[in-house]
Amino acid sequence: PSGNRDSFSSKFGVIAAAAGSAVGLGNIWKFPYIAGVYGGAAFLFVYLAFILAIGLPVMLSELIIGRSSRKNAFGAFKVLAPGTPWRYIGILGVGAAFLILSFYGVVAGWSIEYIVLSLKNGFSAKSPDEIGLLFTTLIESPVKPVIFQLIFMVLSAGIVIVGIQKGIEKYTKILMPLLVIILVFLCVKSVSLEGAKAGLNFLFKPDFSKLTADGILSALGHAFFTLSLGMGTLITYGSYIQKDNNLVNTVINVTVADTVIALMAGIAIFPAVFAFGIEPSQGPGLIFVTLPNVFHQMPGGYVFSILFFVLLSVAALTSSISILEVVVAYFKEEFNMGRKASTILATVLISILGVLCSLSMGVLSPYTFMGLNIFDLMDWISANLFLPVGGMFIALFVGWYLGRKKVKEEVAQGGTLSGALLSIFMFLVKFIAPIAIAIVMLNNFGLLKF
Ligand code: PHE
Ligand code: NA
Repeated sequence: PSGNRDSFSSKFGVIAAAAGSAVGLGNIWKFPYIAGVYGGAAFLFVYLAFILAIGLPVMLSELIIGRSSRKNAFGAFKVLAPGTPWRYIGILGVGAAFLILSFYGVVAGWSIEYIVLSLKNGFSAKSPDEIGLLFTTLIESPVKPVIFQLIFMVLSAGIVIVGIQKGIEKYTKILMPLLVIILVFLCVKSVSLEGAKAGLNFLFKPDFSKLTADGILSALGHAFFTLSLGMGTLITYGSYIQKDNNLVNTVINVTVADTVIALMAGIAIFPAVFAFGIEPSQGPGLIFVTLPNVFHQMPGGYVFSILFFVLLSVAALTSSISILEVVVAYFKEEFNMGRKASTILATVLISILGVLCSLSMGVLSPYTFMGLNIFDLMDWISANLFLPVGGMFIALFVGWYLGRKKVKEEVAQGGTLSGALLSIFMFLVKFIAPIAIAIVMLNNFGLLKF
């Protein structure tokens, strides 16, 4: 380990940064809309099971790999397993970071554009149809969304460029608590609407007949996406964590925070959706089309709407910096570049792909692959393919290559994992997580039917 390598300076800083990475558009934009598409509560149950049985152990695995190697997602495997092909997991991760940030920046750009629209009171005096049209027109435009997306990318780069302590840690410490406060306010507001109960039933009363192979794969992919797992984000962040940090506590805190915030987003959104008689399964537009309708029909909607989109943009920013950092740390350490140069290079490359994603909503929409435009393709490939496959190999690596002794050694620095819990963890990473991921993927691709 090099003495002057960046590191987080405090325990709260570690939690804020890691939770900041986890909590993002995944919780507030994606979770409600895919839960809506796949039937609500039944999806939620499968998703929670994956978080517990796969998410938790894979997250601990990533932190162990990161902290024990003190390297970027690719370099970590080179240090821990020299001369083996394990390093290619890291390449898969860096690739996933490219794909994810390219479409993530698009949605974050919409969110910033919606702050501006909210401030201008742009949803008032509009019919539901007009608000739907407003969204479609907005995302199909070849100029404005691209500008807002690039503003977002520059903001992310601006934080990453100044480094770990003075950038990522400093900002997430302020932004994360702010986010929680705004969300509590939104939940209280939504649940107190008349007719809110139907929304809560939709979210919490499962109808398992609605569950499909597609829905199960999406729940698995989303469990990885939402916890920032499977591509080395937490390997990278783990490499900045000091040896006195309790990794097990960090994992539990981050997972609980992410899950609670996704549920809160659901509680903020579905009661309102049902209270106003709006379709819950309308897809990616759910929050951008439905909520402005809701905002302008409810008392206090003007403020509610500004706060909501500020919250969404803030959450997106603390996640995007963690995605960018995967690529930056990789360029920095593997190609001996400075932090500044690697940040600029990564941001430019990702933004190029990102602009294509944005344009695929409009002018590039005729270009599709397997029926998906570029935006949906990046989303689908990264979440449903790269992340679960990456997560499977990370679990296998820790379970079979590093092994129990090394795991125990690393976890014992700053924390403990009792014999029984350690055995459960080893069993999960050696067998349960990889086998479950393999089954879900094979089942979805029709190679295994049950
Ligand atoms: N976890 C983030 C979210 O829920 C997205 C993300 C995915 C961040 C992968 C880092 C890595 O929005
Ligand atoms: Na998340």
